[in-house]
Amino acid sequence: MGSGTSAFCNSIGLSRISGTRGRETGAGSWGWWIRFLATEPSNIPKLSEFSIDRNRTEHLSYMDMVRSDRDGKLEDIRRVPFWWHAIDLGDGVVTPGHSSLAEQEFRSAGIPHALKGKTVLDIGCWDGVFSFLCERRGAAVTAIDTFQHTEFVKSKYGVDLEGGEGFLVAARHLGSALKVKRLDITEVNDTFDVTLFLGVLYHQRHPLQSLEQLSRLTNECAVIETHYLKGEDQPVMRFYPGDSLNADTTNYWGPSLSCVELMLLDVGFRDVKVVATSEGSDDRAVMLAYK
Ligand SMILES: C[S@@+](CC[C@H](N)C(=O)[O-])C[C@H]1O[C@@H](n2cnc3c(N)ncnc32)[C@H](O)[C@@H]1O
Repeated sequence: MGSGTSAFCNSIGLSRISGTRGRETGAGSWGWWIRFLATEPSNIPKLSEFSIDRNRTEHLSYMDMVRSDRDGKLEDIRRVPFWWHAIDLGDGVVTPGHSSLAEQEFRSAGIPHALKGKTVLDIGCWDGVFSFLCERRGAAVTAIDTFQHTEFVKSKYGVDLEGGEGFLVAARHLGSALKVKRLDITEVNDTFDVTLFLGVLYHQRHPLQSLEQLSRLTNECAVIETHYLKGEDQPVMRFYPGDSLNADTTNYWGPSLSCVELMLLDVGFRDVKVVATSEGSDDRAVMLAYK
């Protein structure tokens, strides 16, 4: 897939589950066990990493302690009614996200690796997998979401979400201090070295206005990942009324690649490059736009 594949794999531990590529959605309790059993010994916390209170732990074996950590993660994961992102929380535990680790590997192909000391805005972060990735790469991350996806999750899956539940649980178990803010892209005033606009463009009622705002917020580069119209050379955008695209009332637009490129140049980016495309039931592209 994208050029950044192996480094991304290493950073989220994909190599550990390389035998289970593809959609992780249906990971039931057997899935957890298989992953746990497949976990290499090096991934199990060392005894010395625990602060031991002898009175409380003398009856616990080493495996009991590891298991209780894993059980705590599984318990917290179960409390979140719907996961968008598969996130590796360690101890062989991966959240049952609709968006698989393999999809995220593609989506993150444009995210710079050298982020130490940079500021990053993750627009439409949902469960936050890309915010946590940028944090691990050394960036100061601001994560925002309108939580408009709660409407989609209710209508397509009949599940009630408030928004931010998955982000909170993932942050806790990844040891991240990040918090998600309920904000629309239009409500942000600061500027950021790098902005992420992954899976958001086609959800905007007014895409050109949103891209204008993206340009205002970006100092160095924006990473854009989007559904696009394959085989269309003209700079056009298709309108999807109601829930006609993927049974999702919050999907509005399917732009051609040249349309996205020309819009990005129009709103103030000086250069745009396509980093990766993937074709299938949903054609997707990852682009980098430079100021
Ligand atoms: C398809 S999801 C993509 C999630 C994640 N970025 C990814 O690529 O996996 C789109 C997300 O963007 C959020 N969103 C949509 N419009 C937004 C806006 N104007 N400002 C901030 N977030 C928005 C939605 O609530 C949803 O969480």
